[in-house]
Amino acid sequence: MRSDAWATAVAHPNIALVKYWGKRDEDLILPLADSLSMTLDIFPTTTTVRLMPGQGQDSAFLDGIPASGQARRRIAAFLDLVRDRTGSTVRARVDTVNTVPVGAGLASSAAGFAALAVAAATVYDAGLDTVGLSRLARRGSGSACRSVFGGFVQWYAAYPGIPDPDQASYAQPLGDVQLELALIAVLVDTGPKPVSSREAMTRTVSTSRLFPRWLAATLEDVPAMRAALRDGDIARVGAIAERSAMGMHDTMEAAVPPVRYRTPASRHVLGLVRAMRARGEQTWATMDAGANVKVLCPPGDAPRIAAELASMSGSRTVIAGPGPAATLTLGDW
Ligand code: DP6
Repeated sequence: MRSDAWATAVAHPNIALVKYWGKRDEDLILPLADSLSMTLDIFPTTTTVRLMPGQGQDSAFLDGIPASGQARRRIAAFLDLVRDRTGSTVRARVDTVNTVPVGAGLASSAAGFAALAVAAATVYDAGLDTVGLSRLARRGSGSACRSVFGGFVQWYAAYPGIPDPDQASYAQPLGDVQLELALIAVLVDTGPKPVSSREAMTRTVSTSRLFPRWLAATLEDVPAMRAALRDGDIARVGAIAERSAMGMHDTMEAAVPPVRYRTPASRHVLGLVRAMRARGEQTWATMDAGANVKVLCPPGDAPRIAAELASMSGSRTVIAGPGPAATLTLGDW
């Protein structure tokens, strides 16, 4: 490891088709169930990690603005994990450039920690393969472990009883998916979310009376979605994805106090998607921890459906397809 080393990595957000919502270990970020996602080809995050010998603490800049508070602490804690592996004590400067609005439920933390994992592991010479990078990214933000890989991806929960769950929980790309799938992001609200997904998830697990039912449904949705993806059956994929997302939101709305990410604008778009489906379109909705609605549909239909959703909702729409794995783009180490 050279003392002036730096590395730059790019990663893309992913959309979960079967959602991750609930941890069994908050420190190791171990989920209660597997989840399945598609990495997207929009809104990449680019992160540079530069070693700063002589600097007393890590520094981080998000879109050029110095990170403070929780955001800086999360990045520094993540770098500590990398340093613990390598025995280094050298601090670093992290520069992250997002192309997606931060905190709006568009998975900026997934792309962000996937890019940070690749760049930091390189610069500190952590010697990790892609599965190791996925495990590491998971410690920054659970969903980030899926953005290490491109296309369709499964994150393994590592069920209780496994001797070393940290080792056993990582993502892997699915090699047997035939499906052609597009996603339309309907940007009804790109402001910061009312509650962080981390806090909302913890509150849901500990207070929502619907949580046990949600978890049981997820354990069934994972193999059902695997089979639907393998069969290239967009109607089954869409139906399972929509019920996973709406079940997650119903479950968090039953938390005490409730977590409400669905706004009147989101509900309007959800209604448009249902109405389109009722007239024979192949459209299904999904949402993450924010007000924006993402619509799954066949790629050939996406421009027409996106234009209709934009005109009916007055919101900007962005069309995405399957995106690439996180990659190192530049470096000097
Ligand atoms: C709603 O990965 O942001 O997007 O592990 O606490 O950092 P932490 O949570 P995070 O949660 C994302 C949840 C979700 C669903 C999903 O991506 O599976």
